[in-house]
Amino acid sequence: MKYNFEDIKDQVVLVTGSGRGIGRATAELFASMGARVVISDMDEEVCNQAATEISQKTGSETMHVVCNITNREQVDAMFQAIVDKWGQIDCVINNAGITKDGLFLRMKPEQWNFIIDVNLTGTYQVSHAAVQHMRKKKSGTIINMSSIARGGNPGQVNYSAAKAGIVGFTAALAKEIAPMGIRVNCIAPGFIDTRLTDAIPDKMAEQMVAAIPMKRKGQPEDIARVCLFLASELSGYVTGQVIDVNGGLGGL
Ligand SMILES: NC(=O)c1ccc[n+]([C@@H]2O[C@H](COP(=O)([O-])OP(=O)(O)OC[C@H]3O[C@@H](n4cnc5c(N)ncnc54)[C@H](O)[C@@H]3O)[C@@H](O)[C@H]2O)c1
Repeated sequence: MKYNFEDIKDQVVLVTGSGRGIGRATAELFASMGARVVISDMDEEVCNQAATEISQKTGSETMHVVCNITNREQVDAMFQAIVDKWGQIDCVINNAGITKDGLFLRMKPEQWNFIIDVNLTGTYQVSHAAVQHMRKKKSGTIINMSSIARGGNPGQVNYSAAKAGIVGFTAALAKEIAPMGIRVNCIAPGFIDTRLTDAIPDKMAEQMVAAIPMKRKGQPEDIARVCLFLASELSGYVTGQVIDVNGGLGGL
């Protein structure tokens, strides 16, 4: 098989939380392959800045939509804006996510609900809106962002539950919508160098890196490249799966 990413060039790709970090690197990689990328984030400043910089750097047309994925009205309005502009939506990368750590006995209901809302309910809402559009053309891919924390991290019962929930959500949805020609997978990043992990104290970060068989943190681009695989024809027979991208950390 000769493969040249021609199918990526035809795609309209939405990346949530793409103002910075993994989402931004992913948006930039897809734009550099010629895809029309929708940069979306709840943070207006980074959203606009990422869209401007990515289109300048790659020469590809981008659009940006400020959207909080916990707000269904904003999510529906974002899809309407995409379809009004480009008439289709081919790939959705549910990347927006957040942590609010704390020990279980001190965890307040707001802290639990906030993390479930953003990471799990946000993924449901964006996917629900996406499938309405994808089913009409009987094709599409959805890529959800789980985490190595789905296996359980102390101090992160809320985040671990949400990220494990994303795995179950992905597996069930993949089975349900495979007959519509839509594939759904998730990626479980390990320790990736972004704002999310900047807060980890240096000493602890060093210990974490020492435990990684590849002896380095992942870069946002390491995740972006796996998104490209999952959105492309190269993964045409892959659905309902979790791909761990973690430098060898953790067991199978
Ligand atoms: N960095 C890591 O080590 C790591 C590991 C495993 C999983 N992940 C997951 O990868 C994804 C990206 O994380 P990152 O490290 O790039 O984080 P980041 O904080 O660098 O970027 C996340 C972006 O999402 C946006 N966002 C947050 N809540 C939102 C909401 N409700 N609506 C819209 N946008 C929102 C933020 O404004 C931010 O720009 C997350 O789902 C995260 O849980 C990250």
